[in-house]
Amino acid sequence: MLTATFLTLAGLAAASPIAPRGEGYAPYTWSKAWSLVVNVTDISTDFPNYPIHGRKVVSIHSGAGLNTPTVTKEFSAGADIFFNSETDRTVRRSGSGSPTLPPLGLVEYNNPSIDGEHVHALGVNFGPGTPGFGMSAGPLNPRPCPHLWAPQEGTFVVCDRGIEAPGGIARYAVQFVDGEANSAPRNYYAPEPNVPSNCVAVKLIPQCETPAPEDGQSSQGNVTVGSAQCYPDVASINWSQYAECW
Ligand SMILES: *[C@@H]1O[C@H](CO)[C@@H](O)[C@H](O)[C@H]1NC(C)=O
Ligand SMILES: *[C@@H]1O[C@H](CO)[C@@H](O)[C@H](O)[C@H]1NC(C)=O
Ligand SMILES: *[C@@H]1O[C@H](CO)[C@@H](O)[C@H](O)[C@H]1NC(C)=O
Repeated sequence: MLTATFLTLAGLAAASPIAPRGEGYAPYTWSKAWSLVVNVTDISTDFPNYPIHGRKVVSIHSGAGLNTPTVTKEFSAGADIFFNSETDRTVRRSGSGSPTLPPLGLVEYNNPSIDGEHVHALGVNFGPGTPGFGMSAGPLNPRPCPHLWAPQEGTFVVCDRGIEAPGGIARYAVQFVDGEANSAPRNYYAPEPNVPSNCVAVKLIPQCETPAPEDGQSSQGNVTVGSAQCYPDVASINWSQYAECW
């Protein structure tokens, strides 16, 4: 009896993403460019055969002017670098700036019949991107735990599509799922009910990077590159030493 109760409690404790935590928040700084580190807040939900916690977001070519965000194959591999456009509240890819070419922007699709109900595929495509993506809330309203936010409420996910094919079909796709569970104050860790079973809910955490000199310039006009909160080295953060995010 006692053993059974103990095992049940131990199981619950292990499954809970919220363990006792320290005080204060992991120290962050500011940069005009950042990469995205995948953070699985409930580590028990990570893919057992291909853990994604700590990998970075990188997009692969999937058509003319189209790129699909996936996760790095190696934890140490290079990642996409992004910046906030303050001018139109979009997220754009750094290093693609040029006065003669269009920008590359983070795009959200809305094709439920293709991607599934509540699920949105993402792209890093020619053009400014979908307004409403952004990193941190800006210098006047910093967040204790900055992460990428989307045009609507919900969560980023990484989905195992089961197949990998040449020509731009990445097996692990970074996508977005609509939902309202984690958006209320202090509900940072609440699981979203609409996450499909082949997907893992994640936060995309900013790691500071060096901006490219021509970021913000494009044939479609120039935009102001915003400063965003970011961590110098996400992998070195021991989250349990800091307060819970909210
Ligand atoms: C990252 O995930 C860990 C659990 O693996 C969690 O404790 C921490 O709060 C998360 N950090 C952010 C900024 O989401
Ligand atoms: C964008 O800025 C660059 C560098 O200052 C300049 O050469 C270019 O003409 C600008 N483009 C537009 C559309 O204003
Ligand atoms: C993280 O911090 C906790 C609390 O201080 C400590 O018990 C744990 O060993 C640390 N983990 C690592 C990997 O350093």
